[in-house]
Amino acid sequence: MDAITLPRIDAAPEDIAGALFAGDTGSRGKFLVGDAVEILGSWETPCIDLTVTSPPCDNLCNCNGCEFDPKSMLSAILHVTRPGGVCVWVVGERINGGRSLTSFEHAFIGRDVGWTVHDVMIHQKRNTPFMRSNGYTNCYELMIVFASGKPGTFNPIMEPTRRNGWETAVHSKGPDAVNRKRPVRLRKETVRTNIWQSAVGLGGTTTDRVAFEHPAVMPERLAEDHILSWSNPGDTVLDPMCGSGTTCKMAAIHRRDWIGIDVSERYIDIARQRLPDPQMPGDALA
Ligand SMILES: C[S@@+](CC[C@H](N)C(=O)[O-])C[C@H]1O[C@@H](n2cnc3c(N)ncnc32)[C@H](O)[C@@H]1O
Repeated sequence: MDAITLPRIDAAPEDIAGALFAGDTGSRGKFLVGDAVEILGSWETPCIDLTVTSPPCDNLCNCNGCEFDPKSMLSAILHVTRPGGVCVWVVGERINGGRSLTSFEHAFIGRDVGWTVHDVMIHQKRNTPFMRSNGYTNCYELMIVFASGKPGTFNPIMEPTRRNGWETAVHSKGPDAVNRKRPVRLRKETVRTNIWQSAVGLGGTTTDRVAFEHPAVMPERLAEDHILSWSNPGDTVLDPMCGSGTTCKMAAIHRRDWIGIDVSERYIDIARQRLPDPQMPGDALA
């Protein structure tokens, strides 16, 4: 494992990235093992453009016995985020025995620590097992889009429209008050809505079998689409609770610099195996 000297308190943002990526060749990415709140707290200068992460909540995934505190984590991420940077927080919650409302709670906590709640998006899972005999099957989780101020980057994902091409439409009335029809060209594409769908499980979430050694893998498509939406090539993408490394993999594929942190060395080991280029170093920090 490489020992990395973290930059001084007054370091420029480039120095922080430079220190983290020092010695890496070919790609600019780094895995760090440890408590993200402590690690991010030691960086005094913002250097992150985008965070895409999902917290452990309601004991739905094993976080190795650590006490997860959303307030400290959201504060630590804001602390290292550049003005205009975004944090996408994908959060599920317990539904049996009454909904825990954890996801809503996290939205309020984020706002209280200084984030702007730019959007509350929905991830709809296409294939969900039947879950409750006394209620509808839950098929969604929230994706809270926090911004440090206003998002500096938004590259909207476009989708084909259902009706396009030429269509005869009523033209607005002229001074003679007669309705006229004329051909108009309908748009081929429109901006996607804030409800995103994806299949989950092997083949849907990812085709990387090793990923499922982690109990709560984020669908690659979600991480990818958020990375494309809220960052540009060359930006730095963080996942402070990277688990099996989905965000890091998709950031690397799309030529963003990336930093993945997890308390579990075992999960970082899985994440390393999922990188698109085996030459990518991603050495863990002791
Ligand atoms: C829901 S999982 C993330 C899954 C990940 N998005 C993926 O695609 O595999 C949450 C992760 O947070 C990690 N974790 C919990 N508390 C942490 C902390 N304070 N610092 C770093 N990692 C933490 C856990 O070990 C767990 O892997």
